[in-house]
Amino acid sequence: MMLNQQLIATNLSPPVPLDSLVIHVFETVTSTNQILWELLDAGKKPPLVAIAAQQTAGRGQWGRSWYSPPGGLYLSLALPFNLLAHNAPHLTLLSAWGIAKALHKHNLPLKLKWPNDLILEGRKLGGIKSETRIQQGIIYQGIIGIGINWDNPVPETGINLQSFFKTQNNSTISSLEALAALTIQGVFEGYQYYCSQGIEWLLKDYLTMLESLGRTVTIEGARGIITGVTPLGELKVSLKAPGAKTEIHLPPGSISLGYD
Ligand code: BTN
Repeated sequence: MMLNQQLIATNLSPPVPLDSLVIHVFETVTSTNQILWELLDAGKKPPLVAIAAQQTAGRGQWGRSWYSPPGGLYLSLALPFNLLAHNAPHLTLLSAWGIAKALHKHNLPLKLKWPNDLILEGRKLGGIKSETRIQQGIIYQGIIGIGINWDNPVPETGINLQSFFKTQNNSTISSLEALAALTIQGVFEGYQYYCSQGIEWLLKDYLTMLESLGRTVTIEGARGIITGVTPLGELKVSLKAPGAKTEIHLPPGSISLGYD
């Protein structure tokens, strides 16, 4: 089997079967990510899922908080990992890919915005926040947290699935519980595909769903075009200056692609 350098260096854990998954359901928690860390610290073994009807201290990317009133999907998965630390962005990439694949099967034209947004009709349907624990340069525990707008209020740049279904006169997902099951299954499929094929194969398909591909961005005054994502999860931008063309790689968190 052809695996890329990063994977040979660490050996991925063999994928765990979906039927060994233990799901913990809560009414109100601080953060489902936080609850999973506590369960792992108490000796519970991955794969684990925590789902809550609402969160009081939901965590978003880059230190932001994630407003989590009832009506939204708030869930986290703990999966076994054994990866070099610089591969941490893979957790978000494999999850975004898996969720998009799962929702496409239900006729939702989901797109992805680098690095962690789920997009529907150009607006934010949800987001992913992965967290890792690293020892001697190796990720030995990883948690993937997902928030998806189902029936909860959203900001102007957001969208929830119930309002989307109304415009379509068609609900292809019948309930919040069904959305939870699909999301868990999607992340699991992403995880299994990643463990068996590696990031390069997953990325090829991920790029077909990336709405930002080909978009013009301005970086420190220079105009460039988004051309892809590297195997380390960095955004590839081709900068054009008169008579010169340079490709730069931007790590997650270094720029925000924003919403129109
Ligand atoms: C983002 O900023 O786009 C990522 C948001 C991720 C929110 C989810 S909700 C379930 C899980 N628990 C958390 O505290 N955050 C994630």
